[in-house]
Amino acid sequence: MDLADLYRDVIVDHNRNPRNFGPLDDANRHADGHNPLCGDRLTLRLVLDGDVIRDLRFEGKGCAISTASASLMTEAVKGHSLAEVETLFHTVHDMLTRQDAPAPASLGKLAALSGVREFPSRVKCASLCWHTLNAALHDDQKPVSTE
Ligand code: FES
Repeated sequence: MDLADLYRDVIVDHNRNPRNFGPLDDANRHADGHNPLCGDRLTLRLVLDGDVIRDLRFEGKGCAISTASASLMTEAVKGHSLAEVETLFHTVHDMLTRQDAPAPASLGKLAALSGVREFPSRVKCASLCWHTLNAALHDDQKPVSTE
């Protein structure tokens, strides 16, 4: 199995069985994201405890890339501090926008999304959840758009 097959399998798995999907009753932060290109929406709720994301869950209707990306993101940031998440945000952003650089090993399964950078409209699918997370962490109640 080559790397492209492995990445595809990760995306298929996380789209079919999204992790951390559903409501989160004790959330103290939330944000709504929207991709105007396709109309897909994502709601993210999280429990912020001091500077640590204790828990988070997402809901919404999206394409395979946006669902898999949100699922992978929730796994990657759960239990991590705001500083760690900020670093990860920038690393993922670089991976999705820099054509020339290989995905850093530190990204783990998130590297499965690196293939979307060849398709600019799909970059928005993959980054929707990250922009929504950013808004939730900054307690920004305005709906987030990928535009
Ligand atoms: Fe709508 Fe991907 S096509 S988020």
